[in-house]
Amino acid sequence: MSIAEITPQEFDLFRSLIEQKVGIGLTQEKRRFLGRKLARRIKELSLSSYASYYRLVGSREGEAELARLLGMVTIGQTQFFRGDHQFTLFADKLLPQILERKKDGGRVRFWSAACSMGQEPYSIAILLLEKTRQARDLDMKILATDVDRESLRFAHAGRYPGSVKAEVPSPYLSRHFKLEKGPGGEGYRVREEVRRLISFRTLNLLTFPYPMAGPFDAVWLRNTMIYFGAPAKKAILAEVQRLLVPGGFLCLGGSESLLGLDARFSLLSHAVYVKS
Ligand SMILES: C[S@@+](CC[C@H](N)C(=O)[O-])C[C@H]1O[C@@H](n2cnc3c(N)ncnc32)[C@H](O)[C@@H]1O
Repeated sequence: MSIAEITPQEFDLFRSLIEQKVGIGLTQEKRRFLGRKLARRIKELSLSSYASYYRLVGSREGEAELARLLGMVTIGQTQFFRGDHQFTLFADKLLPQILERKKDGGRVRFWSAACSMGQEPYSIAILLLEKTRQARDLDMKILATDVDRESLRFAHAGRYPGSVKAEVPSPYLSRHFKLEKGPGGEGYRVREEVRRLISFRTLNLLTFPYPMAGPFDAVWLRNTMIYFGAPAKKAILAEVQRLLVPGGFLCLGGSESLLGLDARFSLLSHAVYVKS
């Protein structure tokens, strides 16, 4: 049985519940995104409607399902230039070092390893265009991967709601986004010049070995390993280590560290490591 699109009233019910439980206020632009995720889950559980799923997650027996619902929402949380200090460090220190190493030419490769809806790789791409004007002839590419196909589809389209104005510094917004007006209101599309720096691919970080050849000059693996146990984290880090160039950089999320996990990296700055 197919499940109809979620109505604004049904969305409001879930939105209030999520806000009350984890303090995340979903904007109206997330209605279809959440609706599609819920519809898939409703089918898997052989339920018939959003209302029956809502009753389940509100019930005592539905506690595990409620945790899963909250996971659906928090797991993809991201934003442009999330963790400002790391992007500043990248633009001012790491990128100049990487370019210095390539001053005689060569490939520059970056990997955003759990890119969610694309804000992270687009932030990197914007900084590449902003900070490497003199080196635009370098062969620079960003690989952006995630396990969630729907997030990747969204990322690939590069269309974001008007609320990104609060995340992207205004000179970058005017240079790298195109204002689009549609029935859903004002939105921004990442310009072609930025989009063409990125290839989006599906990749499950728990399926080894990874199919890419690399090597990468820097990897962003942020706010994702928190969902995995120590053995999985170690296996992921071994792959990242293999795929980084010597002296390559690894950026983790602000609350993450490699403490006790992998000694083959040294700490450079908060949550930023160098391959030893
Ligand atoms: C909180 S988001 C992080 C997005 C971005 N890196 C950031 O820090 O803003 C976590 C992402 O990890 C992805 N993810 C979860 N499990 C994964 C797996 N096994 N393989 C690849 N990606 C995974 C989710 O789909 C989600 O997009």
